[in-house]
Amino acid sequence: MIKKGLILAGGLGTRMSPLTKAVNKQLLPIYDKPLIYYPLSVLMLAGIKDVLIIVNKGQLSQFRKILSNGERFGIKIKFIEQNSPRGLPDAFILGEKFIGKDNIALILGDNFFYAQSLTKKLKECIKLSNGCKVLLHPVNFPELYGVATLNKNKKVISLKEKPKKSKSNLAVTGLYFFDNKVINYSKSLKPSKRKELEIIDLLNKYKKNNKLKAEFLGRGGAWLDTGSIDDFYNTSAFVSALENRQGLKIACLEEIAFNNKWIDKKKISESINFYGNCLYSKYLKKILNK
Ligand code: TTP
Repeated sequence: MIKKGLILAGGLGTRMSPLTKAVNKQLLPIYDKPLIYYPLSVLMLAGIKDVLIIVNKGQLSQFRKILSNGERFGIKIKFIEQNSPRGLPDAFILGEKFIGKDNIALILGDNFFYAQSLTKKLKECIKLSNGCKVLLHPVNFPELYGVATLNKNKKVISLKEKPKKSKSNLAVTGLYFFDNKVINYSKSLKPSKRKELEIIDLLNKYKKNNKLKAEFLGRGGAWLDTGSIDDFYNTSAFVSALENRQGLKIACLEEIAFNNKWIDKKKISESINFYGNCLYSKYLKKILNK
């Protein structure tokens, strides 16, 4: 059972410059809350209460200001700084002490997931005892992503980073579940041409040993990677449309924590004080009156 999670919230955010020159991408808004709330909500929905967030050197205090130590959400959040974006598998090298002898989930700080029965699916994924599990989802432009090709039995037969031509349109999303071997596998990786440790190389190590499993978000689900300015605004529009139509928030961390019975109404009142007079607080007040 996976009880710990990593969030990679560093990176240069080059594609979103100048927005990301002074502020980390994960702290920019997706509609009514900072982007980091969304990947954190996914870990919390999975039932994970122990989280390590990897941030850029010098940006720790900004993240602490909004997330603190996670107490507001009934979870434990620790932070570690990454000196430079050495690639996604660097998370397991930086997180070695935090991971210890346990299995681990990783989510990229700029990934957005919304799907029917997502919680049920996540709860299945965290049951992983050995090997690794990736979440796949179709995309229109596979050449921009890590792409998996499956055989008839839905077994992954190849994994390629940004293939120029691919018959498959199944992208590897930014949510992964690993056994403890991931630490040593990550340490054994060599940087690629772009001088980064590559997640596809890491996943291929599991594939070679027949230990790579695939799960699917499902056709009704949305996976958005908020890497470009257009993606950012499109994701904001998606969240705004859903929230305003339903009157239910996506990634309201206090609400998830309350439903998981990790916090009580007193803690929600404290959050309302923390946020001040805003629509987010107004939403939290509705939970108090339930
Ligand atoms: P990327 O999209 O590869 O990088 P980026 O967000 O810095 O954007 P750009 O390509 O425009 O420069 O990273 C995916 C996520 O992982 C993103 O949330 C940043 C994070 N990340 C790290 O925290 N450390 C790293 O070493 C890398 C490569 C990414």
